[in-house]
Amino acid sequence: MQDLYKERTAYEGEHLLESNAPADPFMLFDAWLADAFVAKERGVLPEPTAMVITTSVDDQPSARTVLLKSVSNGGFTFFTNYNSRKGSELSRNRQVALLFGWYPLHRQVRAEGTAELVPRTESEAYFATRPRDSQLGAWASEQSSTVGSLEELTRAYAAADRRFHDVPVPCPEDWGGYRITPTMIEFWQGQPSRMHDRLLYRRAGLGWSRSRLAP
Ligand SMILES: Cc1cc2nc3c(=O)[nH]c(=O)nc-3n(C[C@H](O)[C@H](O)[C@H](O)COP(=O)(O)O)c2cc1C
Repeated sequence: MQDLYKERTAYEGEHLLESNAPADPFMLFDAWLADAFVAKERGVLPEPTAMVITTSVDDQPSARTVLLKSVSNGGFTFFTNYNSRKGSELSRNRQVALLFGWYPLHRQVRAEGTAELVPRTESEAYFATRPRDSQLGAWASEQSSTVGSLEELTRAYAAADRRFHDVPVPCPEDWGGYRITPTMIEFWQGQPSRMHDRLLYRRAGLGWSRSRLAP
């Protein structure tokens, strides 16, 4: 086992300054996401769109990674199975937290807000763009339920393959997107001596207020 006490990273990066930061956090998010894609091209950041989303019921939070599929209408969209654990938790509590960990860039973005279902037409439109094997996987997997064995899952996939062998795979009723509309977004840029930059945007009326947090 490594000595975890000794594991250290020297954080650094261009300062995140109020004078350079746009008034709209989505503009800053777009710029940072673009930087993450450049880092992917350079082979240093594998999943630029990966984000951790937490849900919470009865005071018990749960977290998992999903993939960001659009940033539009003032929100972050991902797709999943509506009957999954996250789906059932979101039906009881729409308040969520999101986290993008762009560690090779020494950056993190956090957001908190409210989840809502995206319109069915949008889910169907995205589903139609997915590769056929992913589409079949959505039919074969009752996400988050217990399966008897790997073979059972493999049989369910083969059954979906047979069922839709000569037709386009339709979007399952229980599969679709959520859009998270944030009430806050925090941008973290690592700096030397643990004196990191943190800019917090909070919704204020139709716009956003901005403040700097201690690292
Ligand atoms: C890199 C990565 C990307 C993932 N993307 C998604 C996704 O977009 N949608 C999804 O439902 N699950 C995705 N997953 C799987 C989830 O993390 C999780 O295992 C699954 O959604 C079930 O979560 P739940 O039981 O809390 O509902 C991804 C996992 C990883 C590691």
